[in-house]
Amino acid sequence: MMGEPRGSSDAIPLLERLGFDQYFPVGKSHGPYGTLGAVLLALFIPVLLSSMFMGKKKTKQRGVPVQVGGEPGYAVRNMRFSELIEVPWKGATTMASLFEQSCRKHSQQKFLGTRKLISKEFVTASDGRKFEKLHLGDYNWITYGETFDRACNFASGLVRLGHNVDSRAAIFSDSHAEWFIALQGCFRQNVTVVTIYASLGEDALVHSLNETQVSTLICESKQLKKLGAIQSKLTTIQNVIYFDDNETDTDSGLSGIWTVKSFTEVERLGKENPVPPSIPSKNGIAVIMYTSGSTGLPKGVMITHGNMVATAAGVITVIPKLDSNDIYMAYLPLAHIFELAAESVMLTVGCAIGYGSALTLTDTSSKIKKGTQGDVSALKPSLLTAVPAILDRVRDGVLKKVKEKGSLVKSLFNIGYKRRLAAVEGSFFGAWGLEKMFWDCIVFNKIRTVLGGNIRFMLCGGAPLSGETQRFINVCIGAPIGQGYGLTETCAGAAFTEWDDTSVGRVGPPLPCSYIKLVSWEQGGYTVSDKPMPRGEIVVGGSSVTAGYFNNDAKTKELYKVDERGMCWFYTGDIGQFHPDGCLEIIDRKKDIVKLQHGEYISLGKVEAALMSSGYVDNVMVHADPFYNYCVALVVPVHQMLEKWARDVGVKYNDFPELCNKPEAVAEVQKSLSEVARAAKLDKFEVPAKIRLLPEQWTPESGLVTAALKLKREQIKAKFKDELQKLYE
Ligand SMILES: *[C@@H]1O[C@H](CO)[C@@H](O)[C@H](O)[C@H]1NC(C)=O
Ligand SMILES: *[C@@H]1O[C@H](CO)[C@@H](O)[C@H](O)[C@H]1NC(C)=O
Ligand SMILES: *[C@@H]1O[C@H](CO)[C@@H](O)[C@H](O)[C@H]1NC(C)=O
Repeated sequence: MMGEPRGSSDAIPLLERLGFDQYFPVGKSHGPYGTLGAVLLALFIPVLLSSMFMGKKKTKQRGVPVQVGGEPGYAVRNMRFSELIEVPWKGATTMASLFEQSCRKHSQQKFLGTRKLISKEFVTASDGRKFEKLHLGDYNWITYGETFDRACNFASGLVRLGHNVDSRAAIFSDSHAEWFIALQGCFRQNVTVVTIYASLGEDALVHSLNETQVSTLICESKQLKKLGAIQSKLTTIQNVIYFDDNETDTDSGLSGIWTVKSFTEVERLGKENPVPPSIPSKNGIAVIMYTSGSTGLPKGVMITHGNMVATAAGVITVIPKLDSNDIYMAYLPLAHIFELAAESVMLTVGCAIGYGSALTLTDTSSKIKKGTQGDVSALKPSLLTAVPAILDRVRDGVLKKVKEKGSLVKSLFNIGYKRRLAAVEGSFFGAWGLEKMFWDCIVFNKIRTVLGGNIRFMLCGGAPLSGETQRFINVCIGAPIGQGYGLTETCAGAAFTEWDDTSVGRVGPPLPCSYIKLVSWEQGGYTVSDKPMPRGEIVVGGSSVTAGYFNNDAKTKELYKVDERGMCWFYTGDIGQFHPDGCLEIIDRKKDIVKLQHGEYISLGKVEAALMSSGYVDNVMVHADPFYNYCVALVVPVHQMLEKWARDVGVKYNDFPELCNKPEAVAEVQKSLSEVARAAKLDKFEVPAKIRLLPEQWTPESGLVTAALKLKREQIKAKFKDELQKLYE
């Protein structure tokens, strides 16, 4: 095993589950004739085209400066809308009214799709570990009309069950159709829904439910046992409603003080005893979303109905030709604002949502039984959301397979890639027309089928996407990526790239529902008078800015500020710069900038991004102590790479942890870090003076990175306190 791309080893769960590294992008059958044809076309077509077209593309203006209140800065609005938009259409001022109106309009159309479980088996791997494998059937659909009826029934059933409508309900579950129905059912009775990540730990779960005084908990049947164990701590809960999947026995050992009912029973109860709706108001709190923050206990963000419809209204203006013919693949957690906002967008335009999971997404995903279809193959979606870490792995997986296929396939892929890249970047010398068809046929169609073959647009958010990966996906999947920038606190809405923007590394102009302002941060060295572009802390204002943190006025006052015109601004802590065409680029994070002993500022994120390009690095955290004039780093090495090096140079070791402690290994990795640091033009104080190699990978389960695979610095620092201390001795 050599030359494994970084991080493709099996401890990174999210990506491994997707199974992207297991397919073959280029078939065996393309022999030398394919190559010859490719070379000929590659030579002739550009010559023909270049003589037909001349000239340079003009930069399109996408955002313009706008006069706003509040702290002085450089504010920009979306070019196409002079006023902030608040609703997708008149009358859709709350999620409840939006849902009702959209369901009536599209009543006969497919809405929520679920795959039927046909069978389930366990296979034992060579190392004795057991894996669950699923055989799933086709998608079964319910229409918009049926969904509306079920949500109404659930709403009535909730009241009949004895839920006090002045108290809150919580959903603690992975995403599926009933999650969405439960949410809409609660909205119809003006019940605020608390959302909690299904992967959240026990303490965080107890804290969130207790803090918001939740009286009805909606969960999966497999969670009932877990709840039984902490029942004594959940003092506010009165009712538990579980999604019935016929899979787990529901005898959970819960003591009799809770009313426990299945989702179907509640729906039936409501259907037989309807209750008139109680429609919420625009400023009512729709959702209290607990975010798995990088520090401490999770914080609950209060999202109003007005926020949710505003984000949906903004996003539908930027996805091209979005309508009820689209099919959306839903597999990320609905407890994440990014997914919740995306599904609200799909509801708004009347398209179909097919549910799946990260573990069953592709034909080679870890939970899919061999020979059966993954979710994307069964659904053939036209739209998909992804976080950058997933797209990075897609790229690594494709490149790895291309490399393994030998030099002929590799050169073929490279020529095809270059030709398509030129086309994507808008040059007339790239592959268009006939030549495009040719390359699609021999190289890219095969790659595309991995995602179902029909993807026409991808939404990406959660963290910055590297330019290289963005291009790679553009070329190989043949679809534009709409990169969103937003936070839970801005209800996912802030900026979004436009489909015809071929640049990379930027997050587009403000959405039509938001203004974005840069505010100078003098201490950090970023000001709005910087040349060539204004830079500063990113502050978001407008209709998507949420109502603050639940039960935390101090934090709310610190980060949310209402200006003299009544507009609320959220201070993101991210540092950005505005390009002349009105597009935002995220360049840094306030928290991650440390001032060293001699007064230089070091941006940890920037240094880490540079060091990640070393082939030895699976993950890295740079640490800077303000009392020293240098930084240090904790490095998780790529097992295969370090082991290969050890074999090549003849370093003996018993196990990987021992190898990580070998001074020769540390020196080798450090040498590689210095090289990539030099290539990235880092300053001397930015190159880690000492490093420590850590054998265990950082996964969301270990609590060291977030679900989007962002570093949780405080947790990493706490866990490796001793190791860090030693690096400063
Ligand atoms: C629940 O919250 C109350 C305050 O509202 C607090 O006194 C109590 O300790 C909390 N219980 C748990 C289990 O966290
Ligand atoms: C559960 O099983 C019952 C009968 O065994 C069936 O009627 C029902 O449709 C099943 N529900 C689900 C969600 O599969
Ligand atoms: C909805 O609930 C909120 C409190 O959660 C309350 O202030 C508001 O009056 C309710 N609206 C209606 C129409 O009952």
